Amino acid sequence: MTLAVVILAAGKGTRMKSAFPKVLHTLAAKPLLQHVLDTARRLDPARIIVVYGHGGELVRARIAGDDITWVEQAEQLGTGHAVQQVLGELDGADRTLVLYGDVPLTDERTLRRFLDAAADTSIGLISQMLDDASGYGRIVRDAEGRVSAIVEHKDASPAQLEIREINTGIMTFDSRRLAGWLAGLGNDNAQGEYYLTDLVEAAVADGERVATTQPAHLAEVAGVNDRVQLAELERIYQGWRAEAMMRAGVALADPARFDVRGDLDAGQDCFVDINVVFAGRVRLGDNVRIGPNCVIKDAEIGNDVEILANSHIDSASIGPGSRIGPYARLRPGTELIENAHVGNFVELKNAQVGAGSKINHLSYVGDALVGSGVNIGAGTITCNYDGANKHCTVIGDNAFIGSDTQLIAPVEVGTGATIGAGSTITKDAPDGELTLSRAKQITIGGWTRPVKVPK
Ligand code: UD1
Ligand code: CA
Repeated sequence: MTLAVVILAAGKGTRMKSAFPKVLHTLAAKPLLQHVLDTARRLDPARIIVVYGHGGELVRARIAGDDITWVEQAEQLGTGHAVQQVLGELDGADRTLVLYGDVPLTDERTLRRFLDAAADTSIGLISQMLDDASGYGRIVRDAEGRVSAIVEHKDASPAQLEIREINTGIMTFDSRRLAGWLAGLGNDNAQGEYYLTDLVEAAVADGERVATTQPAHLAEVAGVNDRVQLAELERIYQGWRAEAMMRAGVALADPARFDVRGDLDAGQDCFVDINVVFAGRVRLGDNVRIGPNCVIKDAEIGNDVEILANSHIDSASIGPGSRIGPYARLRPGTELIENAHVGNFVELKNAQVGAGSKINHLSYVGDALVGSGVNIGAGTITCNYDGANKHCTVIGDNAFIGSDTQLIAPVEVGTGATIGAGSTITKDAPDGELTLSRAKQITIGGWTRPVKVPK
């Protein structure tokens, strides 16, 4: 079976009250449409066709993929009209699956189950029982329980409004039958639209059985119409991610205060305290402990690392046994080899720090190569930028940098060198020696403080 997935994404999304097309709004930092595309791709379709309309150029610019065929629906005349626009693109695909670009959380397994259930017929739909079905198309079944039609809420009779089984919008068709059925569509209904759902009646008239499947979870078929629904789905999605992490052996202080906006992998026995946000691609080793309120993005974190509260880590690699924070900021290009200590109010950028080195307080170390066993005192600054170019600071193994030192790059501090506190180092400091630049301390004997002159 070759499959074409058609994703309907032409709607305006008025209720988002936004200048941006609805399908570009993000759930877990990923556009709604991207969620649908990622799920679609897991079904190995021969074609992926996205029907776009409102704000289409922006959608096309933001969503990547050579495998996507974009079809414009200039006027939104209904879901049936939308599918009519793609008929010319379905050649060679036996089966068509229709998804909505604003329904982000459908599970691939539900879709596979659905396609299997509909494999021996030419039409199928995913339905769902709801306590409050208002607004949805109702599934009308005959005395034998076979689906005979879908009636839209606005067109439904009082008796039909009592039906609790609704159309989720996810439908599948034998592609070869679509053109004929769509050609027969009219728009003589309450909304004056061409309803894709009217194909059910057409298929039944042709003697077809309508296959139905239910999702494993209600949220899988929930659409986003406004920001309230978007936030609800975000929490559900994060709950699923939290549960998956716990099942994989990670302890979470509170699964309701845990956010993954990307891919997170973790070894055994990690602990994540409240309000930690993971973004991009993050990999934790075993026994990693992360304190509250940390943001960790695109990072590789080794075994037995401890990250204390309120630390911010972006595009960094932290070797095993290291301790970070509280209040540390590791910027892109930071690489801690192992057992490094980076303490409060320390900022690192494009810096490699060797084994066992310590930068414990209030320092900026950027564009630097720091050896192993180095101690960098409080308030040390690598002055890496001369206003035009960035320069590198090299600090040898076992060097000791006294507090409040400015290292004016490019500069090199030798192995085992000691820099006296308060120095401004502009020239290379030799191995094993004490180097300092400091005005000599003097005492003025007999000096007295000025006193206030009476008015
Ligand atoms: C549709 C179904 C309804 C179902 C409901 C589930 C029809 C006629 N009705 O109703 O049975 O219960 O979804 O949410 O299909 N779209 C286009 N072009 C259009 C119209 C819509 O691309 O011309 C897209 C929208 O962007 C959206 C999807 O199709 O992603 C559904 O459109 P929407 O207007 O939300 O359909 P409903 O009226 O809610
Ligand atoms: Ca809708």
